[in-house]
Amino acid sequence: MKVCILMGSPRKQGNTNALLGPFRQELEGLGAETETVWLHALEIRPCTACRACQRDWTAFGCAQRDDVPMIFDKVLACDLIVLATPIYSWYCTPPMKALLDRLVYGMDKYYGAEKGPALWAGKALALLLTCGYRPERGCDLFEEGMRRYCKHAQLRFLGSHAERHLGYDVPFMDAEKEARTRAFARELWDAVH
Ligand SMILES: Cc1cc2nc3c(=O)[nH]c(=O)nc-3n(C[C@H](O)[C@H](O)[C@H](O)COP(=O)(O)O)c2cc1C
Repeated sequence: MKVCILMGSPRKQGNTNALLGPFRQELEGLGAETETVWLHALEIRPCTACRACQRDWTAFGCAQRDDVPMIFDKVLACDLIVLATPIYSWYCTPPMKALLDRLVYGMDKYYGAEKGPALWAGKALALLLTCGYRPERGCDLFEEGMRRYCKHAQLRFLGSHAERHLGYDVPFMDAEKEARTRAFARELWDAVH
């Protein structure tokens, strides 16, 4: 099982990365191969809706020359996509939003003169989130957005796991958060493997 983790946090020592450590370790211990892509380190331009990608039903076909074609290939090669992100203004961070737009057009050839295939149909997707509000009020809108995104894009939405950040003066990580995060990793392994 190949897992492509798209990491949306700008903070290398941040909360989302603190969850990613045990999450990745658990999956790797079960036998998964994981790769983490730090989106803030890459050039990810917004979709301009030129629809060049709709002319080629076999490949990404995007007209923009940045780091997204490389990410596209990694996503296409994996079994499970994990979106790991802090919640910013009730959604994911900007590079992840830009990437989601570029991927949904490049992967789903729905937007040309005729409706074409979804190149990533059947792949699994899950969310690993941190937020300041209680997760049911902080992460609900992004989770619902991604549930619809997956349905539209022909992906399998496997669910989400979120942990709350109580403030910059309170240590984020504790044993319960780690145990819940590891349990989520095992659930994903069972669902995909
Ligand atoms: C610009 C900004 C916007 C945020 N917006 C929200 C929000 O809408 N809802 C929420 O629950 N938390 C929000 N937060 C809190 C973060 O989601 C939370 O601190 C998160 O754990 C940070 O993760 P990180 O350390 O990986 O960056 C926001 C934080 C920042 C910096």
